[in-house]
Amino acid sequence: MKIENTNAPIVELKDVEMIFDVPGGKLQAGRNLNLSLAAGEMVAVIGESGCGKSTLGKLVLGVQGPSAGTIHFSGQNIWSQGFKWTPELRLGVQVIHQDPFSSLNPVRTAYQTLEPILRHHKLTPNRKASRAKVLEVLTQVGLTPPEYFIDKYPFQLSGGQKQRVSIARSTLLKPKLIIADEPVSAVDSSLRLVILDLMKSYNQNQGTAFLYITHDLATANYFAPQGKLIVMYLGRMVETGQISSCINEPAHPYLQALLAAIPGSATHQPGGELPLRTLDMPSPLNPPSGCVFHPRCPHADTRCEHEVPELRPLANQPEHSVACHYGERLQIKSRA
Ligand SMILES: Nc1ncnc2c1ncn2[C@@H]1O[C@H](COP(=O)(O)OP(=O)(O)OP(=O)(O)O)[C@@H](O)[C@H]1O
Ligand code: SF4
Ligand SMILES: [Mg+2]
Repeated sequence: MKIENTNAPIVELKDVEMIFDVPGGKLQAGRNLNLSLAAGEMVAVIGESGCGKSTLGKLVLGVQGPSAGTIHFSGQNIWSQGFKWTPELRLGVQVIHQDPFSSLNPVRTAYQTLEPILRHHKLTPNRKASRAKVLEVLTQVGLTPPEYFIDKYPFQLSGGQKQRVSIARSTLLKPKLIIADEPVSAVDSSLRLVILDLMKSYNQNQGTAFLYITHDLATANYFAPQGKLIVMYLGRMVETGQISSCINEPAHPYLQALLAAIPGSATHQPGGELPLRTLDMPSPLNPPSGCVFHPRCPHADTRCEHEVPELRPLANQPEHSVACHYGERLQIKSRA
């Protein structure tokens, strides 16, 4: 497949804020979000439930308008007045959802899910060619023999097989970027790596960029070992950089706590307690003052209670950024 020779980001978020009006007040699901996704890039987003991962995914997908800030698709501000979607822009970013049970229409077979997309975009001249194309893409996603799967309804497929149909649907139009929001959390654990491998193969063979959203740092590292990591906490990006750098030399105490549960990691504590003052996540309706992590942080001091740490590059690692006043001092140094 032709990979565009352009340096323009596929999607770019600048100073994006996402505030939801909810009963009880205003909920800040995203604050100061800055992100640039280039062609072929692999980016993993991790964080606890409710930290704003899916919200970030929806902003990047272009289905959620930001409360403030700008979102550009291929250099065009998609929420500016007068902006008009072109099919190329609209179809350039696709999504794979967490739950293939609800994302597939229960009354449509695999063929009936995929064929209308081919017909709508005039990719195949007739029914015979459509059937041949659907058989081909089912083979690509490992649903073999495809003749067995093509007329199956979702209820006749396992979770992993349904997720493969979802992947086939997302990749059919060869998008530039796929947002995969917890794509393997509803899949049997034995199949998780297989599904991740399938998505990786699209990146390697077709140059598709991926934003992989997960709460599982181990699969993030497996999925994008050469890619970037974004660690989110309470709607903020608190650490970002090359995934190897973040995992081997974590600077934010929150990432250090997440790594403590992973055997072999920089801060692993076998059988020990997580290095957190409390396991409780503060309410996003009433976030803590200063550094939002301070009530849980074992290193917090009075400055942390009052002064917001912005995401900034580490003094000696310009590609590795952290939102902590003491990032340099607290950073774990690689044992390598
Ligand atoms: N449309 C909405 N209206 C109001 N609040 C919302 C809306 N969407 C998300 N939220 C809130 O924003 C916060 C972030 O939600 P989000 O779904 O992005 O979290 P998440 O990190 O994806 O969590 P999970 O890991 O459980 O999927 C949560 O507190 C959630 O309740
Ligand atoms: S700024 Fe303070 S509270 Fe926040 S992570 Fe750093 S040390 Fe902990
Ligand atoms: Mg989510």
